[in-house]
Amino acid sequence: MVTPTLNLIGPGRLGRSLARLWHDGGCVRVGAIAGRNPAHTRAARDFIGGGRPCSAASMSPAELWLIATPDDSIAEVATMLAASGLVRPGDCVFHCSGALGSTALAPARAIGAVIASVHPLKSFVDPAAAIADFAGTFCACEGDPAALQHLAPLFDTIGARRFAVSAEHKLLYHAAAVLACNHLVSLMEAALRCMEGAGVERGTAWAALQPLVAGTLNNIDRVGTRAALTGPVARGDGQTIRSEIAATGALDSDIGDAYRVLSLLALELAPEGNGLTRGDIGGPDR
Ligand SMILES: NC(=O)c1ccc[n+]([C@@H]2O[C@H](COP(=O)([O-])OP(=O)(O)OC[C@H]3O[C@@H](n4cnc5c(N)ncnc54)[C@H](OP(=O)(O)O)[C@@H]3O)[C@@H](O)[C@H]2O)c1
Repeated sequence: MVTPTLNLIGPGRLGRSLARLWHDGGCVRVGAIAGRNPAHTRAARDFIGGGRPCSAASMSPAELWLIATPDDSIAEVATMLAASGLVRPGDCVFHCSGALGSTALAPARAIGAVIASVHPLKSFVDPAAAIADFAGTFCACEGDPAALQHLAPLFDTIGARRFAVSAEHKLLYHAAAVLACNHLVSLMEAALRCMEGAGVERGTAWAALQPLVAGTLNNIDRVGTRAALTGPVARGDGQTIRSEIAATGALDSDIGDAYRVLSLLALELAPEGNGLTRGDIGGPDR
């Protein structure tokens, strides 16, 4: 079988990581690498170990086109590719955004390309570290069956665990990932600031919280969210909750709001009959 050529537009953290993995796995020949800043594009070529840094206008033909620009530029790049005449009918054009459906690539489909989105549930903070532990990463796939057929062997070769998501529900799917990953970071920051507000030094605070967080994740893994919930909402300690909404709100109104809203969500997991109502937590009736 002929090794397909991959053109990469947007050689940032994700784009260069996937291109390097596929290059190392021998499943693509990296063709054009196009970005905005030529120095970044050359650095991406050095990281990938192949490919030709160039401008978007001077790319050569390829069977696979990965648009790994920030989400807000994906549709614009797809429009540019479709108008350029570079993408041919039957080529596979794809992106890796979690929030956008493959429909962001509709201009490429209009000229006969097949389109897809494949979102790895992973933080590509540092490409060198990301490629080292990519294997086992879950990847949410949607798009044209023919495009997904082209991409399946590529992702399988690098150890991805593919699953399907519908274009219609991508925003909710991505919100789940944001809540579990990005907002976990925000939540840890809020907890650390409360500790500091209580006079506990940040290093000590994290050393104390880290095993609590790890233990809680482990409990969710073992027994699920409902059984893993402990604390004032699970016990029905309404006065404690109201006092802590006030205390956290006095420190920072956003942290107070977060405490209240998360308490309302926790109430949905609390044992029935603990006597607590949404009104007790300052929430509107539903
Ligand atoms: N990073 C993650 O953890 C992660 C995880 C899952 C999915 N994703 C998805 O992966 C995609 C890329 O994210 P990222 O974090 O890798 O972004 P990033 O590190 O900011 O890299 C974006 C790249 O796109 C280039 N670029 C920006 N606008 C462009 C344009 N109009 N034309 C051509 N190139 C352009 C940038 O070039 P310059 O450097 O020259 O400015 C840069 O190389 C996004 O769709 C994102 O949702 C990211």
